[in-house]
Amino acid sequence: MPQLDGARVLIVGAGSGIGTAVAHATAEAGAHVIATSRRSETANHVAARIGRGAEAIRLDLSDETTIAEAAQRLGRVDHIVSVAADHANGPLSTLERRAINEAFTAKVVGPILLTKHFVPTMPTDGSIVLFSGYASVRPAPTLTVMATANGAVDALVPALATEVAPIRVVGISPGVVDSGSWDDTSDKETFFDNIRASNPARRVGTPDDIAAAVVFALTSRFLTATTLRIDGGQPVA
Ligand SMILES: NC(=O)c1ccc[n+]([C@@H]2O[C@H](COP(=O)([O-])OP(=O)(O)OC[C@H]3O[C@@H](n4cnc5c(N)ncnc54)[C@H](OP(=O)(O)O)[C@@H]3O)[C@@H](O)[C@H]2O)c1
Repeated sequence: MPQLDGARVLIVGAGSGIGTAVAHATAEAGAHVIATSRRSETANHVAARIGRGAEAIRLDLSDETTIAEAAQRLGRVDHIVSVAADHANGPLSTLERRAINEAFTAKVVGPILLTKHFVPTMPTDGSIVLFSGYASVRPAPTLTVMATANGAVDALVPALATEVAPIRVVGISPGVVDSGSWDDTSDKETFFDNIRASNPARRVGTPDDIAAAVVFALTSRFLTATTLRIDGGQPVA
């Protein structure tokens, strides 16, 4: 029997990279997928590509009204996966308060509000998967905001898991993944070569690697209050 047979899975940020891979992997595992984006067209496009009755809904984690409306419209949702990230990378001298706030909204404040609005109608065997990232344990110049936002996710996961128990809350912390979000990096191939040379897996991750870990998290009923590092064993120092 498919692992997620008939479960209603809301995927926040399904329109690109890892989120799209998660949408396809959960659908293949039998889930009824509800794909979100801040743009209706993007959500509709992803849902159409998935087929199998997948739904689309516009949802912006910086606008609590869209979260509350989605919760009311969708009714019971069994599992939530939020892959959303807004990037405020760069030297400190270039950082603007608005971008810093948006980064924390996508990763921390928004997921807290998602939990607030959806948990009341979630079943007790439901789960929530949030996305951290390697920057929280591997600080680097220009990644201060991402490191701190991911560190907040690492702390948020056990806090939420305690508060909404027995609903499970699991964090996923990817290493470097060729998700499309590195495509504008001028020295992407050199950077990827360095990752391949330095991690024990000797490869850069794929969105499907991370999606497989999400399906594992959604279906592992003794797994909660922790963050899984899916990073090819990338050295922390
Ligand atoms: N790729 C990597 O190497 C890597 C490494 C470590 C951690 N991660 C983490 O893994 C996750 C996915 O990575 P990715 O590379 O696939 O990211 P991505 O392509 O940048 O996708 C991020 C998604 O976040 C959504 N989003 C941004 N702000 C939002 C908001 N306010 N409300 C709702 N959705 C919002 C965007 O959706 P719309 O624009 O369609 O609304 C977009 O689809 C992220 O959390 C990222 O930090 C990735």
